[in-house]
Amino acid sequence: MKTQVGIIGAGPSGLLLSQILHLHGIRSVVLERRSRDYVLSRIRAGVLEQGFTDMLRAAQVGARMDREGQIHEGFDIAFGGKRHRIDLAALTGGKTVMVYGQTEVQRDLFAARDAMGGTIITEAEDVTPHDVAGAAPYLTYRKDGSEGRIDCEFVAGCDGFHGVSRKAIPESVLKNFERVYPFGWLGILSETAPVSDELIYMNHERGFALASLRSANLSRYYIQSAAEEDLAQWPDERFWEEFRRRLPAEAAAKLVTGPSVEKSVAPLRSFVCEPMRYGRLFLAGDAAHIVPPTGAKGLNLAASDIHFLSRGLIDYFRKGDESGLQRYSEKALARIWKAERFSWWMTHLLHVFPENAGFGERIQRAELEYLVSSRAALTSLAENYVGLPFE
Ligand code: FAD
Ligand code: DHB
Repeated sequence: MKTQVGIIGAGPSGLLLSQILHLHGIRSVVLERRSRDYVLSRIRAGVLEQGFTDMLRAAQVGARMDREGQIHEGFDIAFGGKRHRIDLAALTGGKTVMVYGQTEVQRDLFAARDAMGGTIITEAEDVTPHDVAGAAPYLTYRKDGSEGRIDCEFVAGCDGFHGVSRKAIPESVLKNFERVYPFGWLGILSETAPVSDELIYMNHERGFALASLRSANLSRYYIQSAAEEDLAQWPDERFWEEFRRRLPAEAAAKLVTGPSVEKSVAPLRSFVCEPMRYGRLFLAGDAAHIVPPTGAKGLNLAASDIHFLSRGLIDYFRKGDESGLQRYSEKALARIWKAERFSWWMTHLLHVFPENAGFGERIQRAELEYLVSSRAALTSLAENYVGLPFE
């Protein structure tokens, strides 16, 4: 099979790229290791920046999000038992975020690609990029026991942190930057009314907690946990008890509990690889970088990579202009490092770090108190949370 852009991975990065390219008359094929049901069963991010929602609308996949998603104008930070509202709209000149699950974004992207006749090959095993440093790259894979080959002009590595694309870049070229945090997030999804209409990020002596939501009857709650937890040790009752203890008292009194419909643990990590281009291979999204989830940036960063990459590819195929592709890595990384800084900062602001007992705890409390008392500090938090500009 021949195409213009071979895309590895049908996560949000890969599908959004394929959709945008299609709307500009550029052909692509997406190779995905998992089944579609598996991809759609993953519960991940829930907060979308305005830049991302604008991209989804422009890519003709925003209609259901605009009907079913919730616009949030603020969120709360709680510490010392008190809630403090961060008025995003007032602090940013009217900017807001959209609460709409990544799972739903995936569903909308699959539906749009199907409606437009897009080629997505799922359950593709052993996907391997070849000759990406040369003029004629190609991908090989196995599906149902037969070998497949896709010849393409460019390869987009959208295959997440554990994918094969990054590994196709020689070690002598690639530089990795990493910080692993000594904890994880244990999260549950439950078909109960959310404890609050807006998100609450909680700093508590027992550890961080987050009250988030998907809809009026679907709550998403997280607690700081060990980086690896045996989920069998976390029956729902234990989760609810621990989560309730970290909520401010008036919220705890309103908490509605019920059976979880999903429960998982995610380790926290900051990671960036440089550069994001090697020959005709371009990395995007989690394939190139990871943020701890505290600032809700992972999915949004994947989208800004696709913004830069799709523009570079469109300029190349439409006008023969290679400058966007040449500058892709540099432009994407400039924004990524700012989001890395913000996610790292918000993680330090809100979590209990075992090594921080004593002085570190007092500094953290001072930082929280300064934050909620300073319009300058709040403005900095708000402008990062709603998303920095793409350019
Ligand atoms: P992914 O969504 O990882 O998609 C990559 C795709 O490539 C997957 O479908 C995968 O199956 C496929 N793939 C992998 N290897 C291969 C291969 N060899 N061949 C073919 N296909 C392959 N962000 C937040 O902002 N908030 C959160 O709460 C949050 N929670 C998260 C929880 C978890 C467990 C994880 C892993 C991530 C979470 N994130 C969160 C981050 C956010 O979900 C990601 O940043 C986002 O999914 C990135 O999209 P992506 O398309 O780049 O990568
Ligand atoms: C959600 C996840 C986040 O990491 C975050 O910062 C806010 C919300 C969520 O899953 O709803």
